[in-house]
Amino acid sequence: MLIDQQHYRSIWYDEAQRAAFIFDQTLLPHRFHTIALRTLDDFCQAIIEMKVRGAPLIGATAAYGLALSLRHSAKDIESTYQRLLATRPTAINLRWALDKVRKAVHDNPQLTAFVAALTACHQLCDDDVDTCSRIGNHGLHMIEQLILPKKKAGDVVHILTHCNAGWLATVDWGTAVAPIYKAHQKGIPVHVWVDETRPRNQGASLTAWELLHAGIPHTVIPDNTGGHLMQHGMVDLCIVGSDRTTAHGDVCNKIGTYLKALAAHANHVPFYVALPVSTIDWTINDGCREIPIEERSSDEVTHITGRDHFGNIVTVNITPDGSPAANYAFDVTPAALVSGLITEHGIFPASAAGLDVLRKKISL
Ligand code: MRU
Repeated sequence: MLIDQQHYRSIWYDEAQRAAFIFDQTLLPHRFHTIALRTLDDFCQAIIEMKVRGAPLIGATAAYGLALSLRHSAKDIESTYQRLLATRPTAINLRWALDKVRKAVHDNPQLTAFVAALTACHQLCDDDVDTCSRIGNHGLHMIEQLILPKKKAGDVVHILTHCNAGWLATVDWGTAVAPIYKAHQKGIPVHVWVDETRPRNQGASLTAWELLHAGIPHTVIPDNTGGHLMQHGMVDLCIVGSDRTTAHGDVCNKIGTYLKALAAHANHVPFYVALPVSTIDWTINDGCREIPIEERSSDEVTHITGRDHFGNIVTVNITPDGSPAANYAFDVTPAALVSGLITEHGIFPASAAGLDVLRKKISL
């Protein structure tokens, strides 16, 4: 995506510097700061501390972590794989990407492990860009077919999104935000309600920053506002991303997604989930029982980080000392609340039957 007329991906590799580069997303929107990742520790810490986050980008980062650790020797590939896999438990793209790199090493014995793995990483990133662009096209088509006919010519389409499923969460384009970028580029007037997404505020700090740079009208709202807006006819459509979707269509995404889906259902607002096929965990059916939900430090709830009057990034405490806090990072939205799954292969019902059709289409 373009930032001040320059095109960026959220991760890229520079052989001259023997490093993968990312933006430190913990500093956005206050600082646009690039960091180099070289060692296995660098990669693991970047994922654990959420300098990179978002299911597809976590996968791409872990993939480069595995590849770069093979530069001198392939003997530790299994332990490196396991260390990277353990960085965050919920997004299935992490395992998917690591598996791809490990398979590339195995399938290309004529190449050094490093070259085979690095080539796979570059391909994985290029594929992710293409995948997300196609998700955007399918989502745009849905907006044109489902939402625009209900509006008068020139009316604004109001879309609510939760967390950040934009280009910062993928290699480029994003998942849930890709249809919004495509609609805006096509001249459809869109306005985005951006859930702030406590406790880490990925909506307020990352989605808002993306939309601002793309010139897309948007409004940041506290997480508890969506129901009110839907009751008053101020939301035409919700689109969110996913960290893991089951073979029966249950969707795991950032904590608070479920509440938005309930409000959307009660108010007859379409609730779509945009995801690449790599986010589907075909081995499980029941999202509530089978998806591991990451629990993060309570400090993320008791403290909040922002910019003070002097431009310094500061963290302050917002709860009484001694009050415990809970920090479940994700929740599961049952398939029955999901209007459809927007994938790179088209839009499918969130159900076992719907996903079966997708599976057959891609011959998995
Ligand atoms: O904890 P995060 O910031 O990694 O959570 C990100 C999300 O929940 C996104 O909605 C999801 O990964 C989809 S990203 C295309």
